[in-house]
Amino acid sequence: MKDQAETLRVKLGKSTSIAKTIGIVSGKGGVGKSNVSVNFSLSLSQKGKKVLLFDLDIGMGNVHILLGGHVKKSIATFINDFDTELNDIIYDSKYGISYISVGTGLNEMAEWDKEHIEAFLYSMQELQARYDFIIFDMGAGASRNTLNLLMSVDDIFVVTTPETTSLTDAYSMIKFIHLKDPNKNYFLICNRAISMKEGNETINRLQTVGKKFLNKEMSILGVLPEDSSVRKAVKSQIPFLLIYPRSQVSTSLLNLTNQYLLHQNGKSIFVSSERSPFFERLRKIFLVR
Ligand SMILES: Nc1ncnc2c1ncn2[C@@H]1O[C@H](COP(=O)(O)OP(=O)(O)O)[C@@H](O)[C@H]1O
Ligand SMILES: [Mg+2]
Repeated sequence: MKDQAETLRVKLGKSTSIAKTIGIVSGKGGVGKSNVSVNFSLSLSQKGKKVLLFDLDIGMGNVHILLGGHVKKSIATFINDFDTELNDIIYDSKYGISYISVGTGLNEMAEWDKEHIEAFLYSMQELQARYDFIIFDMGAGASRNTLNLLMSVDDIFVVTTPETTSLTDAYSMIKFIHLKDPNKNYFLICNRAISMKEGNETINRLQTVGKKFLNKEMSILGVLPEDSSVRKAVKSQIPFLLIYPRSQVSTSLLNLTNQYLLHQNGKSIFVSSERSPFFERLRKIFLVR
């Protein structure tokens, strides 16, 4: 397998573009992670980036639904069926971005032998060479394995709503990740804010608490308003950015994307023939269990 990875690197040349990996997480469910994931991915794609959206919701993924698409094969199929190739489980949406579903894939990981794990790791590496961004949408009831996958990403977007329970759960999630890896970059998003004031207060509180109790600096990414366009877009299975491009939530989402890209300026997503930090973390987590 090492040889295969080596061959890939050689084949791709020295200055291969390696995807930036982003995990979109929350404490509580239902705060808007999937909608943020889908529309943020689309906004990157509108800027010419190649994006793969990875649905980590086990069994009940909805990324494909939000994109008006379908999904038949998942990581689970890929791992369990030798005839399934990586390309068979990547779906191209109508709107430019691609998506992949974890299915029940990582649930069975405890039973995978070393060969399976290597195959999985190898495909992740290959995906990283194909895209500019890989975005992981955390599902409800994240399992140990999906959390492990999330632990490997470069940047973490934390989505909260102004509700106190959402905020405290978001903090717990950050703390959980921080205790395992203190070097992560966090980007805070408040979704469903009734006013900018409410959104800013929410996000400032989260930032302050992180600084005070974890001694962690976290970046503020932005506030997304409560907007009926989101629900209508979900119903029509067309992302809000496309069907309601002039809505408040779309404008705010585009600001958020620009804010993130500004932050990335100067931080190259290109690495040389070295393995990416994402891949190194992934390898360490999955091979040493
Ligand atoms: N900014 C918003 N304004 C209004 N409703 C929203 C907004 N964001 C999310 N929602 C509602 O919340 C529901 C759940 O969103 P979803 O992205 O699936 O959350 P999660 O992935 O965190 O479970 C959406 O279907 C929509 O009805
Ligand atoms: Mg979701």
